[in-house]
Amino acid sequence: MMRVAVLVSGGGSNLQAILDAKARGELPQTELCLVLSSAHGAYALERAEKAGVPSEVCSPKDYADRSAYTDAILEILQKHRIEAVVLAGFMFMLSPQFAEKYENRALNVHPALIPSFCGPGYYGLKVHEYALAAGVKVSGATVHFVTAETDAGPIIAQKAVEILEDDTPEVLQRRIMEQCEWILLPRALALLSEGKITVENGRVHIDN
Ligand code: GAR
Repeated sequence: MMRVAVLVSGGGSNLQAILDAKARGELPQTELCLVLSSAHGAYALERAEKAGVPSEVCSPKDYADRSAYTDAILEILQKHRIEAVVLAGFMFMLSPQFAEKYENRALNVHPALIPSFCGPGYYGLKVHEYALAAGVKVSGATVHFVTAETDAGPIIAQKAVEILEDDTPEVLQRRIMEQCEWILLPRALALLSEGKITVENGRVHIDN
């Protein structure tokens, strides 16, 4: 069993997708040991409690800079003997020491088809606002490994949806969550914990 922590900042619908997949028996090698939130009062914390998963809050406001915050996060993860991490709507860029410590063991879900609409400043609803403003005809989601550079790590899975005439950022966000993120993320976690993902020269190979 792989000891996993899920890092969240808000609603936690991707966390919920993981909890539901676990409840359905789809994550047999994953032990959900910790939900770690950057914000007090995040709804994700209620989801963790309901599912009986321990949680902690570690707010960036309590630290002098990004590096000190990252060290605090790493310390909590170490305390819980966490082997792999999922960034599921975690809205803070961590310092490179995080990516180094969890190289090829930290997943991120991003609500666009990387390398489009990604990088610093592209998060949450903004991603969908940019996609609609650009007039793209498809968008989607990407699950990738975390590296020091934002949204630039090896890509594990992507799924696309069509953009429809009347889409608003909110409507598009919901479609991408339902049809892409909530499916791809638990699946990638299952593959990771089953040891089926290898990375070579920055590219992911999946052993099915
Ligand atoms: C999700 O759409 C996730 O992909 C996105 O924020 C939302 C969080 O929702 N993450 C990013 O933009 C990170 N760059 P959730 O809290 O309901 O899972």
